[in-house]
Amino acid sequence: MSETPYVLCHMTSSIDGRALVPRWHPDGAVPDGLWGHAKSRLGVQGSINGRITGLEFAVGTQYPADTDRSFPRTDHLPPAGLPDYRVVIDPHGAIAWGRGDVDGTPIVVALLTSVPDSHLAGLHDDGVHYLFAGDTEIDLEVLLRKLGELGISRVRLGGGPTTTGAFLHAGLIDEISLLLVPALDGYSGSPTIVEHDGERDALQFPVTGIELAASEVLDGGVLWLRYRLTNR
Ligand SMILES: NC(=O)c1ccc[n+]([C@@H]2O[C@H](COP(=O)([O-])OP(=O)(O)OC[C@H]3O[C@@H](n4cnc5c(N)ncnc54)[C@H](OP(=O)(O)O)[C@@H]3O)[C@@H](O)[C@H]2O)c1
Repeated sequence: MSETPYVLCHMTSSIDGRALVPRWHPDGAVPDGLWGHAKSRLGVQGSINGRITGLEFAVGTQYPADTDRSFPRTDHLPPAGLPDYRVVIDPHGAIAWGRGDVDGTPIVVALLTSVPDSHLAGLHDDGVHYLFAGDTEIDLEVLLRKLGELGISRVRLGGGPTTTGAFLHAGLIDEISLLLVPALDGYSGSPTIVEHDGERDALQFPVTGIELAASEVLDGGVLWLRYRLTNR
């Protein structure tokens, strides 16, 4: 049986701890090629994003609201063992993709079984793959198990903050890889790299230990910090 992947939460932060890059000052603080350089060294076989971040690489507009086709609620997956997969958690099927891959990497959408057939028809027409990770809410452990079955042993959790918060509070992040950019957001209200609306400490916090695993200064004064997490 395949193992669930090691989850490497890889995020970029300003030095005042904010996560929305377009709001940062001064302009151009993120050096060219930073993300590609760091990503190429993570040794992952896939990435996970939430629905809002996933929208940034969708090019479709809207799928037709009706279809006369019907689809079993079984996974429709690309071949196992590919070098990379782009996984997006879009529980209710809100994204019309207009493409089936990003630079050759197949898109795999994590859905609830309650999505309408019309959305699944749109995904098929676009050549987008999908898996089901719950009936009423996304079960992140089911999602990770299915990614393990695709041959993914290490996955980059690439945000946004709502999605990293869900994984963090489920006790599923093994490592936080942080690119700390010499930039300032400078205002209240922008999210940090992890957001979660739950009542503070109503449940036991999942992380019991944090250990610095690596640190490096990159071009442009960026600090790359890697921390291993111990979960309960
Ligand atoms: N600084 C960085 O490194 C970094 C990295 C990535 C993104 N970003 C930025 O972050 C912003 C977006 O972040 P965000 O926090 O607003 O959104 P997000 O995390 O991209 O997407 C959140 C949505 O994904 C779905 N989702 C994710 N995990 C889920 C779970 N466990 N269960 C159910 N649904 C789940 C939900 O969709 P539904 O609402 O449809 O239920 C949820 O509202 C963008 O501006 C992006 O550019 C920054």
